[in-house]
Amino acid sequence: MCGIFGYVGKRENAADIVFNGLKTLEYRGYDSWGVAVRQKNKQEFLADKNIGKIGNKRLSKDIYKNPSNFSIGHTRWATHGGVTIKNAHPHLDCTGKIAVIHNGIIENFEGIKKELIKKGHIFISETDTEIIPHLIEEFMGIKKGLPADKSPREPSTNSSEKASGKIRRGFASSVRDAFNLLKGFNAIVVSYGSSSEIIACKNGSPLVVGIGEDEFFIASDLSGITPYTKKLVFLKDNEMAILGKTLQILTLPGGGKIKADIETISFNIEESGKGNYEHFMLKEIFDQPKVIRNLTENHIDQISFLAEMIKKAKGTFFIGAGTAYNACLSGMYLFSKISHKHVNTVFASEFNYLEDFLNKESLIIAFSQSGETLDVIESLNRAKKKKSKIIAVVNSLGSTIYRMADYKFLLGAGPEIAVASTKAYIAKLTVLLMIAYEITGKRKIVKPTLLKTADEIERLLEAENLKKIKETARLVATPKNAFVIGRGVSYPSSLEAALKIKEVSYIHTEGLAGGELKHGPIALIAKGTPCLVFAPNDETYDSIVSNATEIKARGGIIIGISPQNSSSFDHWIEVKDIAEGSYIAQVVVAQLLSYYLALFLKLDPDKPRNLAKSVTVK
Ligand code: AGP
Repeated sequence: MCGIFGYVGKRENAADIVFNGLKTLEYRGYDSWGVAVRQKNKQEFLADKNIGKIGNKRLSKDIYKNPSNFSIGHTRWATHGGVTIKNAHPHLDCTGKIAVIHNGIIENFEGIKKELIKKGHIFISETDTEIIPHLIEEFMGIKKGLPADKSPREPSTNSSEKASGKIRRGFASSVRDAFNLLKGFNAIVVSYGSSSEIIACKNGSPLVVGIGEDEFFIASDLSGITPYTKKLVFLKDNEMAILGKTLQILTLPGGGKIKADIETISFNIEESGKGNYEHFMLKEIFDQPKVIRNLTENHIDQISFLAEMIKKAKGTFFIGAGTAYNACLSGMYLFSKISHKHVNTVFASEFNYLEDFLNKESLIIAFSQSGETLDVIESLNRAKKKKSKIIAVVNSLGSTIYRMADYKFLLGAGPEIAVASTKAYIAKLTVLLMIAYEITGKRKIVKPTLLKTADEIERLLEAENLKKIKETARLVATPKNAFVIGRGVSYPSSLEAALKIKEVSYIHTEGLAGGELKHGPIALIAKGTPCLVFAPNDETYDSIVSNATEIKARGGIIIGISPQNSSSFDHWIEVKDIAEGSYIAQVVVAQLLSYYLALFLKLDPDKPRNLAKSVTVK
């Protein structure tokens, strides 16, 4: 969702650095963006705000005319107020000297806004964010013309003079006090025209500080910082960072100074371009055989450790959101089928309501591509309070979920940029299948299965097969409703397939357990309703093909994804029988169908409307 980038230091092209930093955050999803820089020889900020994507746009000339050594910028995913230039960040106070960018939702903004309006503050946007610069302005007493605090970088408000409002509070203490008033999960970055400092506070969304030579960076993730420096401080919740001549870290709400926890990362962020592919989504689908082979060949020790932890735990919970949740559900079926072991699977957003079952012997395994999904983070916070053990299976090194866990497993799928998750899902299924076998002590069986799966996906990606999948997508590109059905492990496959189709083609698609059709949804089948049917060579085959026949009898068009053709299928896409690997390969067909549906409907598969890659609000 929203992305934050800030720079302060020796370079004078701060706005440019921030602008380029914003491009690295585009994958998070956004609908407007902006950069603020201090005007030449003045203390007021100049903001360049735009709606839509950055694309080939450049910063306005006014911004370029103002070389500055500090700047902040933001990509906004609209929550409070529509997608307008006025609502885009950075937001300024009445004097134009305080600029703020923000990620999160301020739950109590309405009351604060009313009070500020009573005090004469003028608001120009509909956002919750805009209260922050005005609150800071109010605390600093700028309007009242109070004398300045002699130690503006010292966020102490204990003196009786400050408490009585006779002296202007310092910038840092005002930012701190303003942030302490905000309810919800938030991260803010603030600049003040006359201080040349950037101050950040966090109690929810991620913030990383990069430490260069005589310069500092701050961003929602490390990808835009690592080209400049590998020395990072991952801010923790309830911490504040003051970036100026030096870096200071303070605790919130109190403001006590603490030592910066500096980490030097040794890896290089993998090249995340789309290469020769037209879209990231297609590139990431093509990455999948490599992802499976890497996990199969290189991660067996970690898999063995996870299997042991699951064996020992008294109650294992798989949690995740969206696609990650669908992977969890597949895991539940695979564990039951292969390891004869029950695990609980819960949407992270629903986990809070089940926390009564947790204790210190429970094991929570959180699945997440971004490692920043707020619903998952909240669940883990609750699990931590119950002293349960936490394992993170994530794709993003250094992410919040990765850092929260007692034990971390990196999926190693490489950067996933398209909003619709593909390769991270396939990676999660691979890991789950490996653990399921490891628990049974039959590790030798899974390796050849997974290597065959990688080969089978490569076969599906051959030109002739792509052509067939594309042709099938063309035939079903117009209806308003579609269905995907499966049974057993293919039921979660059908949920994931439906989610992919919805996300990138906007065709309303329902994923169903085949047996549930006649309990209601079959009423929606009309002439021409497309239905994808997952029919692998397993115990579900006969029943799912009967379900397909029932749909066909009511005018539905059946697209069978199966090792063999059937008279029930109107179209057949072959996925060879590769034992449990079929559950992985069959979803790749649905990913490709979704991709081509988006193209036929002239939609951008990489950036679907309304969606964000990193869901950092509730
Ligand atoms: C995937 O296609 C979706 N965009 C979405 O459901 C996603 O999987 C979900 O938001 C969870 O994200 P995470 O894996 O980064 O935690």
